[in-house]
Amino acid sequence: MKLTVNGTSHVVDVEEDMPLLWVLRDELGITGPKYGCGIAQCGACTVHVDGIAVRSCQLAAGDVSGDITTIEGLGTPAVLHAVQEAWIDLQVAQCGYCQAGQIMQAASFLDLNPTPTDDQIDAAMSGNLCRCGSYPRIRAAVKSAATKLKGV
Ligand code: FES
Ligand code: FES
Repeated sequence: MKLTVNGTSHVVDVEEDMPLLWVLRDELGITGPKYGCGIAQCGACTVHVDGIAVRSCQLAAGDVSGDITTIEGLGTPAVLHAVQEAWIDLQVAQCGYCQAGQIMQAASFLDLNPTPTDDQIDAAMSGNLCRCGSYPRIRAAVKSAATKLKGV
């Protein structure tokens, strides 16, 4: 099947029902999305399909019909996405394992809701778990990124 990931077209020879996360990591060597639970309960595997955050561990590759973006394609080293900048500014990551998923979730959320309340941020991020408990910094970074994206 053909998949477009981070602007590059790939042809992969996999079963239609192989989870997208496996295709990204094992077939394409794109390791930003992480395996956490495998049952859509932790958010570590979050990527975008046409800009919308999805759990790639539970999405069959054969069901993907749009362009895929992983953390590797969200920004560039020269021009980071505002969410990535906010994450660095506020030193959000601890061990880092969950953070690519957190950032992808936050970026998609802010696209849909550029002026979120604290409660909306908490609700949007509640499916992304962090064993290191970086939640206060995540909330602050999402708010900071929202301000940056508004150009305030
Ligand atoms: S690995 Fe996909 S949600 Fe946990
Ligand atoms: S930073 Fe360690 S799991 Fe989130």
